[in-house]
Amino acid sequence: MALYRLALIGFGNVGQGFAQILLDRSGEFAARWDVQFQIVAVSDILKGSVCDPHGLDVAELLHTVRLEGNLHRAPAPYRGWDALRTIEDAHVDAVIEVSYTDLRTGEPAFTYMKRALELGKHVVTSNKGPIALHYPKLAAIARRTGAAIGVEGTVMSGTPTLRLGRDLLVAAGIRRIQGILNGTTNFILGQMEKGASYKDALSTAQEAGYAEADPTADVEGIDAAGKVVILANLVLGASVTLADVQREGISGLTSTDVHAALAADERWKLIGRVERTGGSIQASVKPIRIPLSHPLATVSGPTNAVTFTTDLLGDVTLVGPGAGRTETGYALVSDLLAIHRERARMGVR
Ligand code: HSE
Repeated sequence: MALYRLALIGFGNVGQGFAQILLDRSGEFAARWDVQFQIVAVSDILKGSVCDPHGLDVAELLHTVRLEGNLHRAPAPYRGWDALRTIEDAHVDAVIEVSYTDLRTGEPAFTYMKRALELGKHVVTSNKGPIALHYPKLAAIARRTGAAIGVEGTVMSGTPTLRLGRDLLVAAGIRRIQGILNGTTNFILGQMEKGASYKDALSTAQEAGYAEADPTADVEGIDAAGKVVILANLVLGASVTLADVQREGISGLTSTDVHAALAADERWKLIGRVERTGGSIQASVKPIRIPLSHPLATVSGPTNAVTFTTDLLGDVTLVGPGAGRTETGYALVSDLLAIHRERARMGVR
C-alpha cells in the first residue's frame, strides 16, 4: 500500500473539510486505490500547530478544533512549529496548502509552496493567490525537483473545472471561458431576490463558509478575477495578471436593481470571462443582466457554472459547487488521488 504523509498548512474550513473526508473515506481509498493518506502535521497561524510522526488522530483534531476553536490541547508529541518548520522537519511527502489567500502578493503561501517544492514535496492547494500570481515559477521548481502541484480547488472548488479544461477539452480548441465563478456573490444576489438585505445575505454566506476571510474579495469581484486569471493562464496558456482583468463587483447593486431586473424577466449574475481574440486575450468580471431563460440564470445559491466555447465541440458547460468546506476539501482529495494514480502508473512515488 502506498503511504503519503501529509502536512496541512492551515486548518480553517477547507483544511477541516479535507481532514473529515480522509477520516470518513480512508477505507475506501485503501480498498480501491491501494493508498493511505496520513496527516502527520497541522500548522495554523491562529489555531496552533501539532505534529506526530506516527500520524495524528484526525478525529481528535477535528473534535478539539470544533470544541475549542484551536489546537492548543490536541494531543501530539511536537507542537508550536511554524509553517516553514513544519514543511522542512515533519518528513512529509505532500503539503496541503490551505492557509488564507492573498491575491495581491500570494504570500505567505507562495513562500510555503516554493519551499515544499524545492524539497521535492508535492503541493496540493486551493489557495488562489499564489496560483494566480506565480504559477509559472512554482511549476518550474516542480519540474526541476520532480514534485507535482495540484490546483483543482482554486477554481469552482471540487467541481473539476481545471481538469476538464486542461486535460479533456484542450484539444478541442478553447476560444472562450465564461461563467459564474464566485459562490458568495451568486448566493447574495439570490438572497436579495428573495427579499434579504445585502448585509444579511453576506453574513449568511460568511457563516456557511463560502466567503473569503475578507469578503471584499468576493463582492468586489477580486476572487472571481483571480479565477479568471487562473483559467486564462493554466487553460488558455495566456500570461495575464489581475491588472489585466477589467473588473466590477456587485457592491453597487441595490435591492431595487435586483427587483427591476426580475420585473423584466432578467436576473443579475456576476460573470467572469476570458476570451482569445486574434492574438490577444480579453478578461473581465462584471455583473450582467441575463434573461431568465438563459441556462446561467438557473444557477443559484453558491453553485457555480462555467461554459467552455470550443472549436470542435461548441459549448461545453459544467455546473457544480463553487465553494464550501467539503466541496473544496474534495478538490484536494481528488488532486492527491490523481498524483497517486499517475505516480503508480509510472512506477514512481
Ligand atoms: N469565496 C469563494 C466563493 C470561495 O465564494 O466562491 C471559493 O473560491
